[in-house]
Amino acid sequence: MKVIETVAEMKKARKNLPEPVGLVPTMGFLHDGHIELVRRARAESKTVVVSIFVNPTQFLPNEDFATYPRDIPRDLAMLENARTDIVFMPSVQEMYPEGFNTWVEVKKVTDRLEGACRPGHFRGVATVVNKLFNIVQPAKAYFGQKDAQQCVVVKKMVADLDMNLEIVIIPTVREPDGLAMSSRNVYLNPQERRAAVVLSRALFQAQSQWKKGEKDAEKLRKEMIALIRREPLASIDYVSIADPVTLDELGAVKPGAIASLAVRIGKTRLIDNVIME
Ligand code: PAJ
Repeated sequence: MKVIETVAEMKKARKNLPEPVGLVPTMGFLHDGHIELVRRARAESKTVVVSIFVNPTQFLPNEDFATYPRDIPRDLAMLENARTDIVFMPSVQEMYPEGFNTWVEVKKVTDRLEGACRPGHFRGVATVVNKLFNIVQPAKAYFGQKDAQQCVVVKKMVADLDMNLEIVIIPTVREPDGLAMSSRNVYLNPQERRAAVVLSRALFQAQSQWKKGEKDAEKLRKEMIALIRREPLASIDYVSIADPVTLDELGAVKPGAIASLAVRIGKTRLIDNVIME
């Protein structure tokens, strides 16, 4: 496994890589969710590139950029174990040198849900993902369903800008009690960790009621909200049941709809979603 820290070196190495190249973009502090993406990339590519870059431009000024968890030695051991070929881990200076001034903005699907709670977040995501695609030039790039809106935004960018790669979405990997794996779960104290199960519980409840025939999205949203409100440590940012392409809120739930939510457990903001299928 080779570790590359500069854009120039990554571009140079790219010229001689066995094709096809699969890219897994991450911000590090890896868990089994990330590794599942790497496994899929490994199965489908001759060369697996994993990027580790805590991207400052997708954090709002009041967010956790400075304190985002980092453990490079552990990440590298996990990636080596998953048979990664190249780890690309540039510095902030490498990715955003003095005078950097170009941004990729996907409109409309970014003005709601995470985009409404975190204005500017998806501009940072779209810009850095675009840069990573240009530097690594993968045939396929792997993203997790855990960040459902991010998947919608990246797919829209790729389609609108005629980018030459395939986006592969991997199902959410969960802890045994249902909590979606996330680098931010380390922020939870033991009591909060137990409370955090309300996110997946609310989503699974909505999904099972839909499977039993309930089509009324507003009714399902209200029942998710009621369930979450019974947890004293939880406070809701949003609860949504939306179209999987436009992210417009639905009146009647249809197959493929995305039920998603953002909930604060103490000071930690968590997101999760399920697809109605
Ligand atoms: P990060 O939060 O590190 O996640 C990297 C990738 O892992 C994303 O595609 C995310 O959806 C996926 N992932 C996270 N938790 C998962 C889980 N429990 N199951 C399956 N996949 C999971 O998302 C980002 O980084 C950044 O926004 C990035 C795309 C790297 C751009 O900076």
